[in-house]
Amino acid sequence: MRFATRMQTAQRSFIREILKVTADPQIISLAGGLPSPEHFPCAAFVEATRAELGDAGPACLQYSTTEGHPELRAFIAKRYERWGLNFSPDEILITTGSQQGLDLLAKVFLDPGDAVVVERPGYLGAIQTFSLFGVRFTPVELEDDGVDTAALEQVLRAERPKLYYTVPNFQNPSGVTFSQDKRVAVAEIMYSPSGEDTVLIEDNPYGELRFLGQDLPPIRKFMRKPSALLGSFSKIVAPGLRIGWIAADKEVIEQCVTVKQAADLHTSTFAQRVLARFLRDNDLDAHIEKIRKTYGERRQAMVEAIREHFPSQAKATEPEGGMFLWITLPEGCSSLALFDAAIQEKVAFVPGVPFYTDGSGERTLRLNFSNATPERITEGIKRLGRAIGRMLES
Ligand SMILES: Cc1ncc(COP(=O)(O)O)c(C=O)c1O
Repeated sequence: MRFATRMQTAQRSFIREILKVTADPQIISLAGGLPSPEHFPCAAFVEATRAELGDAGPACLQYSTTEGHPELRAFIAKRYERWGLNFSPDEILITTGSQQGLDLLAKVFLDPGDAVVVERPGYLGAIQTFSLFGVRFTPVELEDDGVDTAALEQVLRAERPKLYYTVPNFQNPSGVTFSQDKRVAVAEIMYSPSGEDTVLIEDNPYGELRFLGQDLPPIRKFMRKPSALLGSFSKIVAPGLRIGWIAADKEVIEQCVTVKQAADLHTSTFAQRVLARFLRDNDLDAHIEKIRKTYGERRQAMVEAIREHFPSQAKATEPEGGMFLWITLPEGCSSLALFDAAIQEKVAFVPGVPFYTDGSGERTLRLNFSNATPERITEGIKRLGRAIGRMLES
């Protein structure tokens, strides 16, 4: 068959392939990126569904506008006010997960051969999406407090990329969060002559999941030119809803609406209306607080188990929020080789290589702490520590 040229380089998500291996219930999986299902508000959704269907009836099941349900767009716009960001509901487009937001922005901005800045390491789903558009990646190093701003400035000046894609809060995969200074510096670089050809895409699915330290404003707060923000209900309500959004200047939203019409007409009317009803009748902040508490405990269990069971040469990030922790193994170790040894010990993680666009990162790996109990996390880390220890001895 004559498939499109882009399929020659398209790759399946490595993580989805790993999840097949971890279907064995004896394996403690620290691999996926699944939120904790105990916090899915099932009973409240039964109520919200009944109430919304009762009140709005057929409108819940009808086609609707591409832009999205007005009540939901207004809710999202209002939530940005706490940062002093004034989005009007017209500047919010509801998307089928923030993953679709990435796809729409890629369609709107990217031509084959364009350069795109991603972080090193970067979010795999974004790398996968951008790859389908035949782009050149110009990766920039991620440091403990955010992107290497000197390197960013240099790449923007030299490569004139179309997009700079960043996850400034509790990044997937590294757990790294940008400091306030780095946020301001990025906004200044984007405004400087070096950044004038580049649009910032700020992806923030984890920002509300902070359990230590101080919440920080989006980079957008400091921006002096248009940019796009991606948001999602996946990690704060439920990922199966597939509801996210793009918050951006009107000219960007209008272009995205055009390509979304061609992609799926609109995001599920039913899901949007039931979610809007849930948000009207329940306290989202109180709900998020419960998730934060659980994840904070799980993160603590993982950090403590790593301190106890990993050899001291292995370096671990200690994130202040989100769902992931990032390990750098000692010199000479390969996380791909460790994966096989870990499966023998019945524990799984995600090797770091797919998060790099240049094939590097072979000593790195990602661990998830949102989807296992503290006891399972402690046991999983103990097993992984054993596998690392054996690898160092051999
Ligand atoms: C950084 C980042 N962006 C976007 C997504 C996609 O989320 P969703 O499409 O469920 O909103 C994820 C999911 O894990 C993510 O980690």
